[in-house]
Amino acid sequence: MTGDVNPPDGWIDLGDTESLRDPPLREIRIGRTRIALSYHDGNFGAVSGVCNHVGGPLGQGRIDDGGYIVCPWHYWKFHCQTGVGEPGYESDRVPRYALREVNGRLYLNPDAETKRAKAKHDPHPLERPVDRGDGPLKVLGISTTAMDPKEPRYSTSEVLLVVGLDHARGQGAETRLLKLSELSFRACEGFYSKSAQACTWPCSITQLDPADQMDRVYEGLVHWADVVLLATPIRWGGASALYYKMVERLNCVQNAITIRNKVLIQDKVAAFIITGGQDNVQAVAGQLLGFFAELGFLFPPFPYVAHSRGWSAEDMERNVAVVAGSEELREGTRELVSRSLVLAGRLIETRMCGAKIARGGRKAHRLEPEAAE
Ligand code: FES
Repeated sequence: MTGDVNPPDGWIDLGDTESLRDPPLREIRIGRTRIALSYHDGNFGAVSGVCNHVGGPLGQGRIDDGGYIVCPWHYWKFHCQTGVGEPGYESDRVPRYALREVNGRLYLNPDAETKRAKAKHDPHPLERPVDRGDGPLKVLGISTTAMDPKEPRYSTSEVLLVVGLDHARGQGAETRLLKLSELSFRACEGFYSKSAQACTWPCSITQLDPADQMDRVYEGLVHWADVVLLATPIRWGGASALYYKMVERLNCVQNAITIRNKVLIQDKVAAFIITGGQDNVQAVAGQLLGFFAELGFLFPPFPYVAHSRGWSAEDMERNVAVVAGSEELREGTRELVSRSLVLAGRLIETRMCGAKIARGGRKAHRLEPEAAE
């Protein structure tokens, strides 16, 4: 950047240099081109405002101490002067633009000096295509009961879940049991709230944090199971806190449908076990059915078994005794599993859900006036 007397032909006048020093990073647009304009360590810099990862707005990020722009979506870094990726990722780079100061004004050459280069990043294992293949039906049990795994207690919903999985194995199915209380996973951190496009499949947290164990739930739901049998207690009229923590992280599966038309869950069945000391079975079931339906699951007839002691009963020891001794609840659970296996078998035979699904009236569908634009 030099102090010439005249601006070069075709360069764009960005404004007076004084006013462009603060904030140290901003997004500017030249026509449809987004540029991240920076002022760091006494120098202006201009690089593409579009991140190499999934297009995050670099000009809306921040500059770290080393002069790298940190993308606000998933924190990839590109140098504010050169556009080159952070150490170790130099083969990833975004275009750089030339700048000149002329008579106290800053000019930008709209023809980029360097080209974008994208390094090959190995896809996350969850990103592979969903392929059910052959083999026996598979039933994934998910217990959402919160408890200290080191000090286990009797959970009525989890006991029935185990009954259901035992029955599934007896029917020739493979089973897996995931207890959310034994998994260490982060709460959804609101990537979707930055932008729908910032919510990715696989989940952004899963890609950023190898220690996060929500990948086991994604693997089970998306790639492994034909039937998901989910068990929850009733907590203050709702499902368990761990259920909601999991559901928020499943936003990426639902969002893949709403913004990318990518349906990850097809020809799969969900069924539920809901037990609690107090009532509200129907409201809990409504939430579970509504959410799993929006993921793409189908349901057997009478898709949940439930039990509650009721509003006036505070004798929870008795509640445990009732469930522990109830052959009727066990039989109901076995029959629910049988219905689910029959439906899953038929879905797999017919591949019923492979057909294109119309979007009209569904979440994130485009209204006619918008579609015409
Ligand atoms: S880090 Fe920039 S879009 Fe993901």
